[in-house]
Amino acid sequence: MSRIDALLSAMTIEEKIGQLNMVASTRAVTGPGDIREDDGSIRAGRIGSVLNLWGASDVRRAQRLAVKESRLGIPLLICHDVIHGHRTIFPVPLAEACAFDPHLWEKTARVAAQEASEDGITLTFAPMLDIGRDPRWGRIVEGPGEDPWVASQIARAKTIGYQGSDLASRQCIAATAKHFGAYGAVTAGREYASAEVSERTLREIYLPAFAAAIEAGVAAIMPAFNDIAGMPMTINAALLQGELRERLSFEGVVISDYNAIAELLNHGVARDIVEAASLALKAGVDIDMTSNAYLEGLPVALSRGLISIEEINASVRRVLILKERLGLFENPDRSAPPAVVTDATRHERRSLSREAARRSIVLLTNKDGILPLLNDIQRLALIGPLVDAREPMLGSWASAGHEEPILSISDGLRQALPTCHINVVSGVTIDGEGRKAIDEARACAQKAQVIILCIGENAEMSGEAASRVDIGLPGEQQALAQAMLSLGKPVIALLTSGRPLVAPWLFERADAVLATWSLGSEAGAAIADVVLGRFNPGGKLPVSWPRHVGQAPLYYSQRPTGRPTQVGVHYSSCYIDSPATPQFPFGHGLSYSVFTLHDLVCKTPLIKLNDRLQICVSVRNESAEAGEATIFFFIRDLVASVARPVLELKGVQKLYLEAGKCENIVWSLPARELAFVGQNLESVIEAGDFQIFVGQSAAPESLIVECFKVIL
Ligand code: GLC
Repeated sequence: MSRIDALLSAMTIEEKIGQLNMVASTRAVTGPGDIREDDGSIRAGRIGSVLNLWGASDVRRAQRLAVKESRLGIPLLICHDVIHGHRTIFPVPLAEACAFDPHLWEKTARVAAQEASEDGITLTFAPMLDIGRDPRWGRIVEGPGEDPWVASQIARAKTIGYQGSDLASRQCIAATAKHFGAYGAVTAGREYASAEVSERTLREIYLPAFAAAIEAGVAAIMPAFNDIAGMPMTINAALLQGELRERLSFEGVVISDYNAIAELLNHGVARDIVEAASLALKAGVDIDMTSNAYLEGLPVALSRGLISIEEINASVRRVLILKERLGLFENPDRSAPPAVVTDATRHERRSLSREAARRSIVLLTNKDGILPLLNDIQRLALIGPLVDAREPMLGSWASAGHEEPILSISDGLRQALPTCHINVVSGVTIDGEGRKAIDEARACAQKAQVIILCIGENAEMSGEAASRVDIGLPGEQQALAQAMLSLGKPVIALLTSGRPLVAPWLFERADAVLATWSLGSEAGAAIADVVLGRFNPGGKLPVSWPRHVGQAPLYYSQRPTGRPTQVGVHYSSCYIDSPATPQFPFGHGLSYSVFTLHDLVCKTPLIKLNDRLQICVSVRNESAEAGEATIFFFIRDLVASVARPVLELKGVQKLYLEAGKCENIVWSLPARELAFVGQNLESVIEAGDFQIFVGQSAAPESLIVECFKVIL
């Protein structure tokens, strides 16, 4: 008899339900309610996993209670949101997506897993795979951006990065793909609101990344808080059973979101905690995160026949299998002995954070090539509420990053320019509530050769429960920036944020603007590297950047409509008070190099189902600066049984080119990747004419095109 069969036969009902109960430690708060872990409950086997607990001694103490002082000695799952780093913090996920580099994404996840594991964590609630097309939604910061193909690449890279090849290794932790089901489509970008998406959009846009994570072996899935068309994801059996378990063959653990099972009463789909618990278990939720619903409700549900012991056993078995795969029965305290992190390792991790940060910076505008600044600059004015800020550099979900050094923007520039006179004035507070010192800022800026504006959001202005209706610069920052812009001096703007910020006036008037997001522990150093030309920026936007919040939700892969958007055409899909195009398109990002594309050739003008589309294109670096080009491959299905988007991303390639050099890129795509969700909501490939677009962003004017035909 296997260990798990033996445990299942020995466990009482209470002990079985205890394995399905996750409670929060007092170390950090990531949701409402006050249910916390306690020694007695662990000893009694009423707790199977703990979240927001880390640190070798705390974890060892909790595991000792579970393993040495409970009847069956089943170890705990120790879980935490290691979203973009644990102690060494990397760029927030939306920023790191700008690198368009799966190797980088995997590497940072691997280091995050190592640091988390050293602190005794065995499972992270990441990667967050929610497609984000509405920058009013605060959690756009936490996700992969607007595109399902990019999201699927991130899903694969992060799952492999966190989990490695052997979950029992101390270098690895279990990953949780979250939040299953269109959380990014909340109505009006309002946090936790209903998502009204069609079945087709759900399957084409919101679910593919979860399929990719499952294909990569992700250990757990977390359903979203929201309902989709009235069905809360926590009890959405059609998706949790039908899609996840049956169609995608997911065999791992489903963990509810924070207090979500109890909140089914607020959704109005359960009369009491007993009903909530039985609906969630039957829908396929294995672990109840912090709502106590399973502990309180399942015994009664069982006695009333609302659920069966077989259903409880199935969930307990999945939890025990995960604990076994993590090696917890042999080595419950994976942080022991406390890992000795050498200075060399610490330095390597910080260097990776700086590299990831450099790669995540997007150069949005750069008039007359004012950047990079000359390194012999003598007088700089850093103006804005983020000049010395450290927490905003970490962004939301910064885990234990606050316990480690954080490089602010002024730290980075001072280290990089030791002889330059760098004067710093915040000018206004980030929320506009504090003292306004615009005159002081003006006086400081007058003495400078160049003004660097350090403006944007703090860490609480994006992330969970941080939706904004006005996605411009908070507080009095616009007034401060306009005062600086009126001085007639060169102005470089650094935008720290967790979302695209609407500021057309800034992009119009500043000499250069960089999206520096929240770049993590080494933010200041990476920003200085780019501003001073020690790193040639190559970041590309994974989201369309709106001109106005009224454009949200905004994304490049729009369906054409019967009256496609045409500038100046009255009867076309547009607005009368703004261009319909984004401020900056998906994929936008300047470099200090200048790349051009030439000689696009489709080598396979006619392909069948089992063929591959073969494309060749030349890329030339027209500048004197070596740099990395990012080339996007989009397709368009011109006529199909369902209206298809004007562009669909199917591939990205990066190419490092020395000054003046030209190289060919060959890119191929299996014809099966041209499938889409047909009229019957099943995946179909149809014969017909297609276009292949190649460019450095989704901007129509930047694309070169060739045609090909699919025959079946
Ligand atoms: C939060 C988030 C979820 C997170 C969990 C645990 O409410 O929605 O993403 O993993 O609770 O902190």
